[in-house]
Amino acid sequence: MTTTAQLALAPVAAGDVDAVHAVFADPSTWTHLPSGRHTHPDQTAQMIDHAAAGWRVHGLDSWTVRLAQTVGDVPAGTVVGLGGVSPRDPFHWNLGYRLSPAVWGHGLATELATEAVRAAHAHDRERPVVARALTTNPASIAVARRTGLREVLRGPRPDGLVRVALADRALDDATLAGVAALG
Ligand SMILES: CC(C)(COP(=O)(O)OP(=O)(O)OC[C@H]1O[C@@H](n2cnc3c(N)ncnc32)[C@H](O)[C@@H]1OP(=O)(O)O)[C@@H](O)C(=O)NCCC(=O)NCCS
Repeated sequence: MTTTAQLALAPVAAGDVDAVHAVFADPSTWTHLPSGRHTHPDQTAQMIDHAAAGWRVHGLDSWTVRLAQTVGDVPAGTVVGLGGVSPRDPFHWNLGYRLSPAVWGHGLATELATEAVRAAHAHDRERPVVARALTTNPASIAVARRTGLREVLRGPRPDGLVRVALADRALDDATLAGVAALG
């Protein structure tokens, strides 16, 4: 368990499926990519299984995000989302975050992402940290920038949406190509 000022972060676990699914099934958290919304808890369970494998194999992956204190009307202890860094090939940490709209605008994603980048650097500084976001999602890009990541790639995806990638360092061509291929 890792704590920050407003958050309690624990390795995501199978018992969190229902609470995490509520966030991943909420259309408000997918306005920039509606096709990504989870329509069945099995999709969330599969995502959590994958992250649990990351914890086992690499010792770091996504956290279940709980409030350490009341935020707005949402009481301390509530699961408000998922986020952190996940190991990806070619060799990098993928930074991600998805929080319940009920807690947006309180700096929580910035706090979460800052702790995730710190954890990635503490765990394996050789592996770059990379965040990918659509250009239509300025809040996500703002969060990545606030952790110190800078734009390294911008281009259209097969679906026509434009994706920007931000990283904590310059990336070699193979990693850039791999990040681009992730979408
Ligand atoms: C992106 C997300 C995690 C941000 O969560 P949050 O806790 O509200 O984020 P924070 O409060 O830490 O910071 C948000 C930043 O975005 C900025 N922001 C918010 N909406 C914005 C907009 N429409 N245009 C520009 N900036 C915006 C805020 O001003 C803030 O930056 P600042 O602190 O420099 O002012 C949240 O909106 C979310 O879960 N969205 C849906 C899932 C998602 O898009 N995940 C990322 C996928 S790549």
